[in-house]
Order: sequence, then structure tokens, then C-alpha cells
Amino acid sequence: MTRPTTRLDCEALDRADPLAAMRDAFHLPGGVVYLDGNSLGPLPKATAARVREVVEEEWGVGLIRSWNDAGWFDKPRTLGDRLASMIGAGPGEVVVCDSTSVNLFKVVVAAAQLRPGRSVVVSDRDNFPTDLYMIEGATGLLEGYDRRLTSPDGPSLADVLDEDVAMVVLTHVDYRTGHMHDLTAVTEQVQRAGALMVWDLAHSAGAVPVDLNGAGADFAVGCTYKYLNGGPGSPAFVFAATRHQDQVSQPLSGWHGHARPFAFVPAYEAAEGISRFLCGTPPLLSYAGLEASLEMWAGVDLATVREKSLALTSLFMDLVGQQCAEWGLEVVTPREPDLRGSQVSLRHQEGYAVVQALIERGVIGDFRAPDLMRFGFTPLYLGFAEVWDAVTALRDVLEHEEWRAERFHRRASVT
Ligand SMILES: Cc1ncc(COP(=O)(O)O)c(C=O)c1O
Repeated sequence: MTRPTTRLDCEALDRADPLAAMRDAFHLPGGVVYLDGNSLGPLPKATAARVREVVEEEWGVGLIRSWNDAGWFDKPRTLGDRLASMIGAGPGEVVVCDSTSVNLFKVVVAAAQLRPGRSVVVSDRDNFPTDLYMIEGATGLLEGYDRRLTSPDGPSLADVLDEDVAMVVLTHVDYRTGHMHDLTAVTEQVQRAGALMVWDLAHSAGAVPVDLNGAGADFAVGCTYKYLNGGPGSPAFVFAATRHQDQVSQPLSGWHGHARPFAFVPAYEAAEGISRFLCGTPPLLSYAGLEASLEMWAGVDLATVREKSLALTSLFMDLVGQQCAEWGLEVVTPREPDLRGSQVSLRHQEGYAVVQALIERGVIGDFRAPDLMRFGFTPLYLGFAEVWDAVTALRDVLEHEEWRAERFHRRASVT
């Protein structure tokens, strides 16, 4: 793809874009450049109809019969199998359920059983906080466990891996910087040290090609409301490699993970396979939203998505370098394609206010404390000309110091 240097070049790229038609699959409000699909994906047009069908037909008419007739009971597995192909997992290795946080709790306790005699869980200080909190919560219930944290300033993964480490829990694409780990190399490094590898794919699923089984990963979790467009709070997923499934139990031993949930026996007996990672009754209206979006994703080639994503993020970084250099923005996302996911983060001391000023202009990104502006690039509905317009808006906000207005400094609960 040649480097565009004008808005007309960007428009030409949009006309040649093999994914251009996908934009029509989304409801996108006019006057908005949406650069926050890495936080909450926009609404697919098919979603409302599917949710309405579940409400009016499956619930309204089918009533309790829909647990069997509409496949409600199996939804965590059927949607899990659909999602599996997007992350390099096989059938029966993924279930859709609960939240990423809850699934990580289950996985940490389950994985610990596979490494008796080892009592350290490694993660990174900059990992998404819920991962660190859930590791803390899970290991707090396991006797004698410690948490060891790596950090960009050291210690490194190589420094902390030893015969005490049971598992390493890392987020594949960093939520703040957009830095992407080499999934295969890190998995190999961890397993060579005798530990298990647990990946958080929150910023990877639907954003970059992922091959969990190709890498030999042990466990993974992730959410579906970002790049997968499942809707606010849509259910998360959990992957357990087939080789581990019947060797572990997870601590949230609810009836949907029971071998015979409708036998109503007093003692828990884990279901075979990935079903043992389920807990309670699935929120089926949320599953309907995810189902509609996964149907939309079914015909999409992730290699094409990745190619366009890299072109969009490169363009954004180039234009920021050309048009905004004098305002001291630091691009914290790696320039090397293999090292970044599908977002670009810029450091600016007044990042919060700059993002608010951009949002008022219809360019929606978000902010992560202390000073990072995050912009997500989602090839299914974002065009090159929009990237051009976003950088033009950013330059205006900085040049005219629009961000100084008092209203842009009022902190909302969600940033
Ligand atoms: C890496 C990562 N893990 C987990 C979560 C959130 O988990 P949950 O869906 O349980 O709130 C996020 C949310 O942005 C995230 O970025």
C-alpha cells in the first residue's frame, strides 16, 4: 500500500479497500469518527433484529421451551466454537461465559492444579489491573502462593522465570501502549521454564490474527465487547487447551459446569471438557448481541483485517508526526508492525482534556491515566479519510489550545 500524503490519496485508498462494504454492516452516527472500537465496538445493524427475535420469539413465544428448542442451553458452547476459529482454537476448546475477570479467576485456580510444587504466578506490573486483582484474589485463596511482577524497567520475564513459577499471565496486546507480545515466542519461553502460559486476548480477538494452538498456549481469556462488537457487557470467553481440560477443575463450581446439571444431585461433578468452565445461567439477551456480531464476522478474513489495521495505524502515526510534531506528542505505540496491535497511543500531559475536546468535535477516542490518549483502529468500518480527518481535528485542538476550556477538564467517572 503506498503512503498517502493528501486527503485525496486517503479517499483513493478507501475506494480500493476490500473491506469497504463492511462499513454498511454497522450503525455509525453521522459526524463521528469512531476511534474507540478497542474499548466498545459499535452496533452491528443485525444486532437489534437478533435481540428482538430472542425477546419476542424465543422468550415471548417459546418461553421455557427455548432452553431446548432455541439452543439456549448450548449457547456458551456453540458461540465458543464460532469464536474459536478466530483465535486459533479448536471446537470444544472455548466457551463464552461470564466476564474476562471471572474467567481469569477460574483459569488461575485451574492452572495451579497442573503445577503442584510451584507457587508463583507471574504477570506484568502494567497488565490491565483487573488481571492483577484477580490473580491477587485467586492466589490469596491458594495456600502459600506469591505474585511476581515483571516491568518494562525490569525485572524481565527471563529474570523471574524459575522452578517456582506455576504460570505466567500476560495480556497479548497492552491496553495502554498497544504493544503486542510475540505470542508464540513468549509461550515457548514460559513453557521451557516448566510453567503454563495464560493469555488475555481482550485487545486481540477480532483485532489481530491469533493462533493459540499453533503457539501451544495453555489457557486464554478475553472479552467480546471490544473488536468483536458483541455489545456493552457482552459475555467473555475462556479457552483451555484440550490436553488440560479433564485434568483441572475450576473453583466456581456452578450447575452449568456440572456433568449432569438436571440430575440435581447434591454433590458437584465437573462436566467433561470445556463445559466445566461454565458456572451459572447464561444472560441470553447479551448472547444474542454477540451471536449477531459473530455471524457478521464469519465471512471476514483476519489477514485482510490485519493488513488494513497496520495501514491505518501507520497512517495515523505518520500524520501525527507530520502535522502535530510541534506540540510535543509522544507516540508510545511501537512503529514495528510485529510489535503493535490495532491501537495507537499518544502521550500528552493534558491528554484527558485533549481527548474531551476531540470528542466534542466528533472524534471519539479515550484516555488512560496518567497521560495516554488511546485511539483504536478497526478496519471493518474505519476508512483512511477518517484517519486524515481525525489528525486534522487533533492538530486544530492543539494549535488553538481548545483543550484549555474548563469543560474539558471535568473528569467523568469513565475516561
Ligand atoms: C486486558 C483487559 N482485560 C480485562 C478487561 C476487562 O475485563 P472485564 O470484562 O471482566 O471487565 C479489560 C477491559 O478493558 C482489558 O483491557
